[in-house]
Amino acid sequence: MPPTAVPASPRSPSPGTPYDLLLIGGGVIGLSAAWRAARRGLRVAVADPAPASAAAASHAAAGMLAPVSEVTYTEEPLLRLGLASLARWPAFAAELAADSGHDLDYRAEGTLEVAFGSDDLAVLDELAAFMRKLELPVERLTGRECRRLEPMLAPAVRGGLLAPGDAWVDPRRVTRALLAALERRGVTLIPARVAGLERSGEAVTGVRLAPDGGSPDGGSPDGGSPDGGVVRARRTVLAAGAWSGAMEGLPPEVLPPVRPVKGQIMRLRSPEPILRRCVRGSVHGSYVYLVPRGDGELVLGATQEELGFDTRVTAGGLWELLRDARELVPGVTELEVADVVAGLRPGTPDNLPLIGPTVLPGLSLATGHHRGGVLLAPLTAALLTGEAGDDEGEGLAALCSPLRFHENPRVGENA
Ligand code: GLY
Repeated sequence: MPPTAVPASPRSPSPGTPYDLLLIGGGVIGLSAAWRAARRGLRVAVADPAPASAAAASHAAAGMLAPVSEVTYTEEPLLRLGLASLARWPAFAAELAADSGHDLDYRAEGTLEVAFGSDDLAVLDELAAFMRKLELPVERLTGRECRRLEPMLAPAVRGGLLAPGDAWVDPRRVTRALLAALERRGVTLIPARVAGLERSGEAVTGVRLAPDGGSPDGGSPDGGSPDGGVVRARRTVLAAGAWSGAMEGLPPEVLPPVRPVKGQIMRLRSPEPILRRCVRGSVHGSYVYLVPRGDGELVLGATQEELGFDTRVTAGGLWELLRDARELVPGVTELEVADVVAGLRPGTPDNLPLIGPTVLPGLSLATGHHRGGVLLAPLTAALLTGEAGDDEGEGLAALCSPLRFHENPRVGENA
């Protein structure tokens, strides 16, 4: 069952008219869905105390659009979603750049996956066989061939796999561009925390803002009630990342089963880019990736830690990243440290996102994107706004339907 698109409504509604679509959460997912919906002529609002801020996972994300090189055994459904979203990225990036006037540093030169030790090489060969079985376009390279592509790689690198179709983008540029595009499209940003959902019987009719929340000018946001604390919408989408599981007013069976998965990341600065493409590598079983930006920045990531809502940057986390990155690209230790940050990915029990209607009419989810929020943003927005083609959309929507965690999924079919 594909998520239903809300039909467009007139652009000049009377005060208090519900929004067509209200996004709870201003990370890359909420902002992308808001932008695509606004392009379709819907009246849209985004509620977030600080959209695109350092709290969002997208602020820490490296921006790898790498479903092929990040493929994992038994996770073919996630690969399917990732490939479908990767295919949407070129148009998404071009339209966003045009709508916002921002450059996204979107690049599509592929990912090079490299192996350090003989143990890593054996794992790489098994992975290559798995990828060939899935008919993924990858090329097995010797160590020398890897260094020909990336001269800064260490002589110790034994071999690699080139995934030429993978791409990457700067997520901070993407969210800044989305904010600019939303402003141009007349989307309302409500800089407030959502305290809970408004209900009318089973149906979700909007949200209640926290007491200190309101519109930028202190008045009632458009679509709000006279007391200014309620924002009404025909469809509300919970897109609050790792915090989505804590929304008040939801019955336990509707609360999304997301948990925070901490990732620490370092941003290094060099006058010139030292890599031409994304490099992922394993060093005696420990994984690290290096993502180059056009301006010379190099992102090293990322730890994966199950520590609840802990966002401390730790010496041990940074040491692990540097230890492994230095084995693959020794020159990284010469670079200036620009930034260190920890973000919280929204993990789910099956590592698939939760996108689409819930059993409560008027409420959809767009959360649980775990390691793939930036990659999956275009597909998520397309599924939510009805832009995904019927055949493709139905199959993909079924993979990430929130109803899959219900014993009796049929109850949500009219949501
Ligand atoms: N997508 C890479 C990460 O989450 O670390």
